[in-house]
Amino acid sequence: MPTFKIDGREIPFEKGETVIVAAQRAGIDIPHYCWHPGLSIAANCRMCLVEVAPPPGRPALMLNVLSYDPETGQYIDQQKPKLQPACQQVVAEGMDIRSDSSPHVAKARASVQEFLLLNHPVDCPICDQAGECRLQDYWLEHQGTAKRMHDEPVHKPKAQVFGPTIVYDAERCIVCTRCVRFCEEVAQDPVLSVRERGNVNEIVVAPGRELDNDYTLMTEHVCPVGALTASDFRFKARVWFLRSVRSVCQNCATGCNAYLDYDPRDGTIYRHRPRENMQVNKYWMCDEGMLDYQRAQSADRILEASIGGESVKIGSALDRAAELLKAADPNRTALLLSAQHSLEDNFALLELVRAVWPAMFSGGVTARLFATGRPAGKGDKILRHTDKNSNTAGVLSLTAPARPGNFAALCQAVDSGAVTSVLALASAVENEQSLASLAKLKALVLLGVWQGPLVDRAQVVLPAASWAEADGQFMNAQGMIQESEQAVAPAGQSRPAWKLAAALGVRLGQPIAWHSLEELRQSLAGRQAALPKVARSLQPGAVS
Ligand code: SF4
Ligand code: SF4
Ligand code: FES
Repeated sequence: MPTFKIDGREIPFEKGETVIVAAQRAGIDIPHYCWHPGLSIAANCRMCLVEVAPPPGRPALMLNVLSYDPETGQYIDQQKPKLQPACQQVVAEGMDIRSDSSPHVAKARASVQEFLLLNHPVDCPICDQAGECRLQDYWLEHQGTAKRMHDEPVHKPKAQVFGPTIVYDAERCIVCTRCVRFCEEVAQDPVLSVRERGNVNEIVVAPGRELDNDYTLMTEHVCPVGALTASDFRFKARVWFLRSVRSVCQNCATGCNAYLDYDPRDGTIYRHRPRENMQVNKYWMCDEGMLDYQRAQSADRILEASIGGESVKIGSALDRAAELLKAADPNRTALLLSAQHSLEDNFALLELVRAVWPAMFSGGVTARLFATGRPAGKGDKILRHTDKNSNTAGVLSLTAPARPGNFAALCQAVDSGAVTSVLALASAVENEQSLASLAKLKALVLLGVWQGPLVDRAQVVLPAASWAEADGQFMNAQGMIQESEQAVAPAGQSRPAWKLAAALGVRLGQPIAWHSLEELRQSLAGRQAALPKVARSLQPGAVS
């Protein structure tokens, strides 16, 4: 691999790479605002300037620069190296780049910072970006001086509503055009543009339009300062109080990698942010997915166990569930799995049923094994999948070679009398048309996260933890198994469905063979060894 040098350190690079990309891969951060690895190069902020030393024997490219001498009060004509933007400069073999080691670069970075802050309002105490703002960070790292301009700054529109999800503050904007490029290049909706020039320029929405495509929240995410804020998160939390776990979006089968941010002091979840994974979602998420964190703590969570609609202690509900299942006709009992639940939850239920009703798996397996999930929805060619469940492929992989029937098939089996009792892991069903059939069931034991049509029809309801409250693995539409970490404690009486399955197994006289998530995963891994090769992902994601 060819190499070049940054501050004397030898760095390998690939042909065509820019200095900033090769440096970042080697763990060297070159400060930047407008550059984003997923967007085209604009090279307009000039924060990434570096000095390019000439090849041996060639003169350096120099510029005549007027430099102010505070001691004499005079401007002095000086020769200085012409600096190049690292985001645009393509690397060549043997190139010698000076970044942190160059006094000219340090001066340029400080000057760019001062320039960007000239008209910037002193908004930090009330700005949602505070704590994760590049202007704050780079002021500390590269400037550190007080403001010298005491004139009235240029005033521009504040709190402009760009659309249902985004609010714009033109005074905070450094016109890096990341948001403009994102809309055009990724969302494929060029609804934003730059108006005017110089210090009066600002970002505007196309006449007659709102910023209302399916990826609007990403504009706030790529904004390196507090100019774009999300209506959903504005003024809700200070980021330094938040902690993050590596999560997987549950809103569709793409399985975008995300961070789930929560406040550990009260367990409130505040937002979903994309986590870089070049094989799945690159740097992005859609709006639905970014707002889907709300489902984890929504008002329709099942928080208590119930028998016949009456709230009870979870132990009593488990006892009653075991009674009903023991009394059920083993040849007419069905299992309903859920594409909304993790591999662990589904696997635990399958193992329980294998132990209690082995006949279900000898020959007649497809007749009494079903799976459900949310109905299909809108997809696109960017990220969104029409399957609105996070683990359809996972459920199918667990039941292979048998293919479980869908919810309509279960209802038909109930109608025909082939199924009279159901153990269900289900928080949603893909179609509600044939629900009336379930009235014929002698027993319906439900493990669920959210209220839904099955809850009213269940004799026993056991509250299951949401994905944000348990570690879990999900297989996306590409067949990649991805891990999602627990953020907060299970709400109310809820607990992970795999633990509920274990407790039920004990009461049914068939304690299952694992006592912890690790043991459960070992059994699951044994099962997965027989499956097609899958990729795993629990990567931290880089900062861009
Ligand atoms: S709003 Fe943010 S992302 Fe858009 S140009 Fe201004 S600073 Fe850049
Ligand atoms: S594309 Fe699907 S997985 Fe990705 S953020 Fe959107 S809803 Fe979530
Ligand atoms: S990052 Fe803005 S000019 Fe290079």
